[in-house]
Order: sequence, then structure tokens, then C-alpha cells
Amino acid sequence: MAKTIYVLNGPNLNLLGKRQPEIYGSQTLEDVRQLCEAQADETGLNVVFRQSNAEHDLIDWIQEARESASGIVINPAAYSHTSVAILDALNMCTFPVIEVHISNIHQRESFRHHSYVTARANGVIVGCGTEGYLLALRHMASLLKDS
Ligand code: DQA
Repeated sequence: MAKTIYVLNGPNLNLLGKRQPEIYGSQTLEDVRQLCEAQADETGLNVVFRQSNAEHDLIDWIQEARESASGIVINPAAYSHTSVAILDALNMCTFPVIEVHISNIHQRESFRHHSYVTARANGVIVGCGTEGYLLALRHMASLLKDS
């Protein structure tokens, strides 16, 4: 049976494509969802793809994934830099967590240089554009291959 990976997206990523395209590119979140589903198909994974502007939704989905999934790929967006609650939720998960940032947060304002989620992430992909999601899923597939 295909293993399920939650791909979770935080605030303002619903406006991907329109939002500061010079930083985040021109692909929409729907484009990213389709690419993730295609990539997951190739590697035998099943993707649950979600976005919310609300911290509590992300926490609820992490708790849901903890019961039903084999891994999480997460772009917590601005909550990366503020949310101990998202870190606490991820710390209750025993499966792989991969953090993605579309932009290179280390080349940007200093308040973006620290992410709470990084303390839990098995891997972090920054600055690879929306391709970062696909790289994350590929790595997730290799992490889960023998489990
Ligand atoms: C982001 C980087 C964050 O600093 C920012 O708040 C975002 C998107 C990224 O994907 O590059 O909303 O996570």
C-alpha cells in the first residue's frame, strides 16, 4: 500500500504566483500541488496537500498526520520563524519531517534566518524555488524505502 505524505503549507502560500514573484516565482500553489502529486506517483507515495493561513490548522493537520501518515513535508512560511507550537506538534511525530523554503531564507532579512522547525526537521531545503518540494518528496521516498 502507498505510504501517505502530508505536504503542508503555511500562511500566504495560497497566493503563490501572485505574491512577490521575484522572490517566490510564478508557479501557483495549484501548480505545486499537481507537480507534487506527479512526483509522488513516480515514487509510489500518496500525497495529502494542504495550505492554511491559520497556525491551528497546521497543528491539527500535523496531529492528523501523526496518526495516519508516514512523513511530513512542510513549508511553515512565516510561522517557521515564530511558532514553538508547530515545533511541539512536529516533535510528537516519529516519522521523517522535511522543511522546505522556496526562497533562500539565509540571504534575506535576519529575522528569517532562524526557523524553529529546523530543530526537528530531518532535512531542510532552501532556495531551490518550488522544485524544493519535489526534492523533498524524492528524499522522503528514499528515507522511507526500507521502512
Ligand atoms: C518562505 C520563507 C518565509 O520567510 C516566508 O515568511 C514565507 C515563505 C519560503 O518558502 O521561502 O512565507 O517559507
